[in-house]
Amino acid sequence: MEKFIIKGGNPLEGKITISGSKNSALPILAATLLTPEECVIHRVPNLSDIRYMLEILKFLGAQVDYENGTVRIKCKNVHSTAPYDLVRKMRASICILGPLIARCGQARVSLPGGCVIGDRPIDLHITGLQKLGADIEIIKGDVVAHGGILRGTSIHLKGKYGSTVLGTDNVMMAACQAEGTTIIEGAACEPEVEDLAHFLCSMGAKISGMGTQQLIIEGVKELHGCEYTIITDRIEAGTFAVAAAMTKGNLFLEHAPVEHMGSVLEKLKDCGASIEIENQGIRVSRSGPLRAFEIVTAAYPGFPTDMQAQFCAMATVAEGTSKIVENIFPNRFMHISELKRLGAMIELSQNQALIHGIERLSGAPVMASDLRASAALVLAGLVAENTTEVHRVYHIDRGYEKIDEKLSSVGANITRVYSKI
Ligand code: EPZ
Repeated sequence: MEKFIIKGGNPLEGKITISGSKNSALPILAATLLTPEECVIHRVPNLSDIRYMLEILKFLGAQVDYENGTVRIKCKNVHSTAPYDLVRKMRASICILGPLIARCGQARVSLPGGCVIGDRPIDLHITGLQKLGADIEIIKGDVVAHGGILRGTSIHLKGKYGSTVLGTDNVMMAACQAEGTTIIEGAACEPEVEDLAHFLCSMGAKISGMGTQQLIIEGVKELHGCEYTIITDRIEAGTFAVAAAMTKGNLFLEHAPVEHMGSVLEKLKDCGASIEIENQGIRVSRSGPLRAFEIVTAAYPGFPTDMQAQFCAMATVAEGTSKIVENIFPNRFMHISELKRLGAMIELSQNQALIHGIERLSGAPVMASDLRASAALVLAGLVAENTTEVHRVYHIDRGYEKIDEKLSSVGANITRVYSKI
């Protein structure tokens, strides 16, 4: 196991290059199951979640080559069973379900287990695929599907907490080769869903309405191989933008997808950061006070839940009291008890947190619990007095490519060391 040792206080200055998007790469890699031909995908970030997905695809029969950010993959002969041991490592592996049903006419995929960020059912995925004609049961913890011929139809995919990202992906991928036209109402509009739709169109799919809540998919007979470059990661870019604001730094975030970061950049400006859009990226800096704020998480283009923890860390040292309402994963507050170990003043009741800003956090050992919570702890460590130890950094390696190297290249005092706990 590894941990980060962080000595806080350095303003971050310089350039960081933003990697490809994890949440775009995962479903796009799963979509390669839809064709026996080779797909070449560029800007795939080197993350443990990506390696898990490639392991699953190899297990299903894919030939895979991954080098310098490019994946060459060919799913010539694939089988349709993905066991618990593989799937349990990563919830997002559920997005192989739709492609397997479409490609093999059947699938047996282990139900993803529990998740620390909260209850994450897949009922919408299942009802959406059933509407297309798949006969699905849950047997001994597995989703068992018999597809036969899938037929296009109208499907409403909104649930209690709004649209579903991977649910939209699964149904959209299965509908690409269904007979007739499928209309998905209440579809997720996240840029990663749009990127997947564009990838599918490069394979020969017929999809319109990308980026809107109504997706129209005209079924085609077959899909072919393609070459594609995925979008860059708005959440990684948002995390570094918060780092610049918190450390009173000046960072140029090369290839940051500014067009996907509207709500996050607006909030950063409200907090007192200055945002300049430059050629090939954005510059984030702060010279004046850090002001308190209010955020309510929502589906895109609303404020992303995947940036909530990072803003929570920022609120701990802002002037005044900030309010955070988490509407997507109401229990997604594992970072709060750890931030309190650094001296943060936070009141949590149900899905609302009130954060009373203080002058300075003080370093201590803390434990990462999930991907974005661990990013929040690293950000807090960058501004805390003395030394902060962030344990179990394997969580952060799931979604941030070489974050310690990127941060130290712009002046952070952060080292990765072996840890017994
Ligand atoms: C995606 O997860 C992202 N993961 C998550 O990012 C992100 O937090 C989430 O979307 C919301 O933006 C990937 O893209 C790999 P949802 P997903 O289905 O698709 C409820 C990160 O940090 N729901 O959009 O699993 C669900 O419980 C990760 O990178 C149902 O009720 O999320 C939640 O409250 C964490 N039934 C809400 O909808 C369903 O069948 C949104 O979940 C499906 C979801």
